[in-house]
Amino acid sequence: MSTPSTPEPRLPKPSPSAQWRGVIREYADRLDVSEATPIVTLGEGGTPLIDATALSERTGAKVWVKFEGMNPTGSFKDRGMTMAVSKAVEHGARVVVCASTGNTSASAAAYATRAGIAAAVLVPQGKIAMGKLSQAIAHNARILQVEGNFDDCLEIAKELAERYPVHLVNSVNNDRIEGQKTAAFEVVEVLGDAPDFHLLPVGNAGNYTAYHRGYREELERGATTRLPRMFGFQAEGSAPIIRGHIVKDPDTIASAIRIGNPASWSLALAARDDSDGYFGMFSDEKILEAHRILSAETGIFVEPASAIGVAGLLERAEAGIIPKGATVVITVTGHGLKDPGWAVRQPDGSEVTPTVVPVDTDQVAHALGMAGQAARQ
Ligand code: F0G
Repeated sequence: MSTPSTPEPRLPKPSPSAQWRGVIREYADRLDVSEATPIVTLGEGGTPLIDATALSERTGAKVWVKFEGMNPTGSFKDRGMTMAVSKAVEHGARVVVCASTGNTSASAAAYATRAGIAAAVLVPQGKIAMGKLSQAIAHNARILQVEGNFDDCLEIAKELAERYPVHLVNSVNNDRIEGQKTAAFEVVEVLGDAPDFHLLPVGNAGNYTAYHRGYREELERGATTRLPRMFGFQAEGSAPIIRGHIVKDPDTIASAIRIGNPASWSLALAARDDSDGYFGMFSDEKILEAHRILSAETGIFVEPASAIGVAGLLERAEAGIIPKGATVVITVTGHGLKDPGWAVRQPDGSEVTPTVVPVDTDQVAHALGMAGQAARQ
């Protein structure tokens, strides 16, 4: 009797991975990387461009929202940080440093950890949202709270990088802008052309500069027929670009863009001129109103600063500058869970407390306004 042969296990064949590979691998031919570049990635980029029906209905324009909160650390910074940290490691860096209003520090901490190097982050004391601080702590960054504002932190970070063996990963580092320009490539891939208008928040103006660069490259290689008009928005209390001078004590609830002396100021002015663009500003009340509209009407939850492009859309459309039928992309830059406290606050400042009910189905139905609607058993 022959021994029955052991059946071969039938394992599923490995399928080619359909997973998005992060912006460096996806756009290697359009970034300054080579075989020698170690790719430090968490799979950033490839974020959704969401058809924002409610905003289209409000304005008559065709509005899309580029949801950058969907990046690995919850903001657009990851696109630039994969490039900045990869290039830093390529150049032999063991420590990266940044100044931050929160998101850059969260991203630098995560990517440094991924690369096995250290991150030092300088943040304005008591001025960054808890979600962002918790990320930097969780990823083991060396965090220092500076007794000053973001602009002071950036000055120190720049000097540190000049005088000590640390590599600067703020957006004054061109690798950051290069990584961030990929968001414009993604928009063009989805729409098949550049939009008529692109709206986004402005702090250091690095992202405004990056989108413009991405769109310009797309136009030059013949992938698009136009350059979008780039509209950037600052908070009234920290609007140096609109006011035309440095703001010494910038102030706004939109802590991500509380910046009085933007690092990419002159680059942003050149991008505005090249694209027939515009800079505007909004009060904190208007920012929070836009934040509520976006959450309640489109299902997209962002941190307050990220909503300022929506305020810009509504105001520019009302003013007749954004015409009906125009294609508009708004970049919302950071996730709502970064700074969720604003969502539970009413416009009058009071907190929303959900109604408390007993463990009783009929009372729950009553509280939901369904009393008397029970189906017959
Ligand atoms: N939106 C968010 C959520 C941000 O965190 C920032 C900048 C901006 C918009 C503005 O972008 O500076 O390129 O004009 N945050 C930086 C930081 C300053 O430290 O996280 P920008």
